[in-house]
Amino acid sequence: MDLFEYQARDIFEQHGVPVLGGVVATTVEEARAGAQRLFDAGSAVVVVKAQVKVGGRGKAGGVKLARSVAEAGERAGEILGMDIKGHTVHRVMIAAGADIAQEFYFSLLLDRAERRYLAMASVEGGMEIEQLAVERPEALAKVPVDPRVGIDEAKADEIVAAAGFAPDVAPKVAAVLRRLWDVYDGEDATLVEVNPLVLTGAGEVVALDGKVTLDGNAGFRHPGHTALEDVASGDPLETRAKEKGLNYVKLDGSVGVIGNGAGLVMSTLDVVAYAGERHGGVRPANFLDIGGGASAEVMAAGLDIILSDPQVRSVFVNVFGGITACDAVANGIVAALGILGDHATKPLVVRLDGNNVLEGRRILAEAAHPLVTLADTMDGGADKAAELAHAAA
Ligand SMILES: Nc1ncnc2c1ncn2[C@@H]1O[C@H](COP(=O)(O)OP(=O)(O)OP(=O)(O)O)[C@@H](O)[C@H]1O
Ligand SMILES: [Mg+2]
Repeated sequence: MDLFEYQARDIFEQHGVPVLGGVVATTVEEARAGAQRLFDAGSAVVVVKAQVKVGGRGKAGGVKLARSVAEAGERAGEILGMDIKGHTVHRVMIAAGADIAQEFYFSLLLDRAERRYLAMASVEGGMEIEQLAVERPEALAKVPVDPRVGIDEAKADEIVAAAGFAPDVAPKVAAVLRRLWDVYDGEDATLVEVNPLVLTGAGEVVALDGKVTLDGNAGFRHPGHTALEDVASGDPLETRAKEKGLNYVKLDGSVGVIGNGAGLVMSTLDVVAYAGERHGGVRPANFLDIGGGASAEVMAAGLDIILSDPQVRSVFVNVFGGITACDAVANGIVAALGILGDHATKPLVVRLDGNNVLEGRRILAEAAHPLVTLADTMDGGADKAAELAHAAA
């Protein structure tokens, strides 16, 4: 689960990472009130920051300075409702303005391939960090971190030395890195990134931004993490699918995909994308795994979600009959189309294989639903579905 910056800020504060005052707001009025509080507490300037779970907010115009309550309200009015890389801004954070002397970069993440953590740090942080990583990778220090040890004093010193921090700031940064390790370890995160970590004019090291990803698998250890979940600003189809207990992820293509078993669905996505190259570059519209016991209700719920996606032009149902045999799946599809009635308006390509496949195919052939095309193979089905999606575009 990715957190918003304001949530990361609160967690940082709980673990003793130095942060500045910040107030979240969903309206111009709240933004003005938040700014008032920060000015009253002694801030000379405040910063209005879009809260969206995507990088590059500053460059997109989602981070703006304000010198008065009125100005903070105006900036919030401009930023709320803005679209940043497909994410609508529903909230802003009003943050105390920092007097920035220098901007640094730090991140700690899970390095699955190496089975350990990786710390990255640079004395040249800020909004150009992606460019820096490409053009001058040597300016970004990469230090492996043993999960059993974490960032202890020695490791923190190693990281700041590798990044080349000046001797006067190095110990201050090292102390903050140890607190950030506390966040990572204590909250079971898979990513903690601070860009920029700044040195202020007064010589303090402060985290001015925060990106945190929490490990959902460790959720049972953190009952408090549930409250951080953001259902409202997620994709509406994903929210509906979640309510129905479906394992659905929205993608950006036009071929809807339903399958049983995560592995089969993942490879179906690949095969559809590959077939799409022959048909105008169409791509899969979603991941949807309806699991082993695909009843008519589950099939109907899955089809309903997929058909509600306005980007979908065709649907590829790719099922391997196992414990639930193909005849049951075929009956499920026929019943699902019955349940959906007029709501089913897009062509469906169905490929069945496995247990009782002949009976399954017979049921679908006999039902002869005008929207359904049968395919014998996964490649053939993907090709047909891609062709139909392209033709309907
Ligand atoms: N509280 C603050 N006070 C002063 N300047 C700030 C403050 N917060 C951010 N800034 C300035 O704005 C820049 C961009 O802010 P921030 O890092 O939060 O967003 P971003 O990096 O553009 O977004 P993202 O991290 O999502 O890519 C910072 O590099 C910093 O120079
Ligand atoms: Mg940033």
